Amino acid sequence: MSNNNIVPLDTYWMPFTANRQFKANPRMLSEASGMFYRSDDGREVLDGTAGLWCVNAGHGRKEIAEAVYRQLQKMDYAPPFQMGHSDAFVFADRLARIAPAGLDRIFYTGSGSESVETALKIALAYQRAIGQGTRTRLIGRERGYHGVNFGGISVGGMVSNRRAFPTLPGVDHLRHTHDPLRNIFCDGLPEYGVELADDLERLVQLHGAETIAAVIVEPVAGSTGVLLPPRGYLERLREIATRHGILLIFDEVITGFGRLGAPFAADYFGVTPDIITTAKGLTNGSIPMGAVFCGRHVHDALMVGPENAIELFHGFTYSGHPVACAAGLATLDIYENEGLLTREATVLDTWRTAIQTLRDAPFVIDIRTIGLVAGIELAPRIDAPGARAYDAFVDCFQSGLLIRTTGDTIALSPPLIVDTNHIDRIVTTIQSALSRVT
Ligand SMILES: Cc1ncc(COP(=O)(O)O)c(C=O)c1O
Repeated sequence: MSNNNIVPLDTYWMPFTANRQFKANPRMLSEASGMFYRSDDGREVLDGTAGLWCVNAGHGRKEIAEAVYRQLQKMDYAPPFQMGHSDAFVFADRLARIAPAGLDRIFYTGSGSESVETALKIALAYQRAIGQGTRTRLIGRERGYHGVNFGGISVGGMVSNRRAFPTLPGVDHLRHTHDPLRNIFCDGLPEYGVELADDLERLVQLHGAETIAAVIVEPVAGSTGVLLPPRGYLERLREIATRHGILLIFDEVITGFGRLGAPFAADYFGVTPDIITTAKGLTNGSIPMGAVFCGRHVHDALMVGPENAIELFHGFTYSGHPVACAAGLATLDIYENEGLLTREATVLDTWRTAIQTLRDAPFVIDIRTIGLVAGIELAPRIDAPGARAYDAFVDCFQSGLLIRTTGDTIALSPPLIVDTNHIDRIVTTIQSALSRVT
């Protein structure tokens, strides 16, 4: 039985939601276990999105719940400024061991957006510390999503997130890499577009390398519809950034912690940035937390001056929160014990092959897959972009599957514990939803 009639809907201003449309016809979740949610009218809903790209080990993990409970009883909170608690150090050490080589200095935040702000500020502080204080410019990319704070929307490239707000001065953007004309239905990384990385070289020619601190990209852009980097693109970006003394930041808020079948996208692509931002899968989505992985060179450049001087004037009340650290440690145990950071190729192949069968479904104009991610792009309805995908989303939810849509792309990112039966159910549910939408 739905209890919508007794839930007061008016007061809560929902994020990134069409509030009036939602409240006229709410979709409510009330329980979660393994691969499934339960809606408040008692229906089982298969989670095709790991919540919001975060519940990588599946829902309701007892080990995390117990660790959180224990920590809350032992010590609920500890101030992170000029004070420490052991789990914050132990967790950082554990994270450093799974990090791409060299990225072994960890700064804690409370979310992906905070990780992005932190990374951008660390990049600026680093350049100043090495005597490159003229490097204040930040470079992002069109169609990038880096959270919702002012730094993140400035380097981000989603027009709706930017148009109502002022953005940082001295920011420029690379062109996005989405080129459906050349890369349509490519099975694997796009063949064409490596030259788009040369945009960084052009911006160097335009602004002068000595003005540019850092470039930030999502290795795989999630929020604008699962856009994969063209073959060789990230390598070339790395090469140009290094040549010009520009720090390379990978925003791995969604690609971190096994999403691509490797611990990080940096591992998957074999390209090592100077800084990596993470959140989401860090605690399996259970307790809000983010972490910024910094190269040793970046960190060490700031460990200078008198020993009693604070090296970086930055941090959050909830940096290294003991309960979040406990959740994170329990999450890492699960990832390691169950091999979730490197799921076997057979599962990834089953995923890719099954998703590719949707290419003949109604309205599908492109499919992009990588690791346990898929983007299924639908032809937009004339004069109503996004409406068709939204209808598919509602239809799937009614049929017991949670998907996510952005524009007219269905984005899938199931918990990494997904098996063949779940994959079949995801594909058949989407197939029949697409046969019903108009
Ligand atoms: C690549 C990327 N960066 C940053 C963020 C922001 O994370 P949060 O919503 O935790 O602030 C997201 C969220 O989806 C993301 O996908």
